[in-house]
Amino acid sequence: TIRLVRDTAELQALPRDPAARRAVVMTMGALHEGHATLIREARRLAGPDGQVVVTVFVNPLQFGPNEDLDRYPRTLDADVALAAEAGADAVLAPSVAEVYPGGEPEVRISAGPMGERLEGAHRPGHFDGVLTVVAKLLHLSRPDTALFGQKDAQQLAMIRRMVRDLNFPVEIVGVPTVREADGLALSSRNRYLSAADRASALELSRALSAGAGAVDRGPSAVREAARAVLDGAATLEPPVVLDYLALVDPADFTEVPAGFTGEAVLAVAARVGTTRLIDNIVLDFT
Ligand code: PAJ
Repeated sequence: TIRLVRDTAELQALPRDPAARRAVVMTMGALHEGHATLIREARRLAGPDGQVVVTVFVNPLQFGPNEDLDRYPRTLDADVALAAEAGADAVLAPSVAEVYPGGEPEVRISAGPMGERLEGAHRPGHFDGVLTVVAKLLHLSRPDTALFGQKDAQQLAMIRRMVRDLNFPVEIVGVPTVREADGLALSSRNRYLSAADRASALELSRALSAGAGAVDRGPSAVREAARAVLDGAATLEPPVVLDYLALVDPADFTEVPAGFTGEAVLAVAARVGTTRLIDNIVLDFT
């Protein structure tokens, strides 16, 4: 049976085989099937004797002043049930006081240039806030393996870079994006969408599919195909209001040049009604 622990002393006191792997899935709660897929993959990697820990912490540091921190969904009881069902051994839901013992931290992780691109350009300070809390939660939970979703492609890339640049003793594993049957990427923020919003929101994954369909014709054709879908989506009711569409190198999130070969990420961010959504797809240019 799953244990809900409210601080890391309690977590470290749980019985476990010291030789077995600990795998951690970090979340902000409001868990859905995307999170469940990360937890199942964590269970597989940790093995039956390992320990799978899900952290639930809505990190104030990564929200901008006009973002949805105050209305971010909080559903801890349902989260514990979903985590148990997906195979977790423990949910760690620490207090703000434990994660930020000195109040607003003066010392933080700086995300560097990659943290100013795409999402970072639209959400100043966001990746400093993400990396700071991920570093803290790694220290507090001490996993062998930590899993993150490809859904937040730039976040995953930044975490990989931090772990390398700062020699964190942890293995980072990326997990492919989980989607609804019609293509909409699962997100905790989808619950903000009205039926009409949701219909418009579907244009994000449609644009990515259109881009994928042009991969044989190179980067410019991919961008144009995706752009055409988003141009149409801008005239819907409610409109899809584009923040960015970009085709980038997953190592540093700079735009890929014409003639690029290898893996690239086609990433999109847009607002539908009052909800901001992101999505991406990995494309292989040969
Ligand atoms: P959150 O948005 O709750 O996401 C937790 C993890 O679930 C992230 O690694 C995210 O990429 C993954 N995830 C979300 N939707 C997914 C989907 N449809 N398919 C696959 N994986 C998905 O990301 C955060 O929280 C925070 O920034 C956090 C890393 C916890 C730091 O506060």
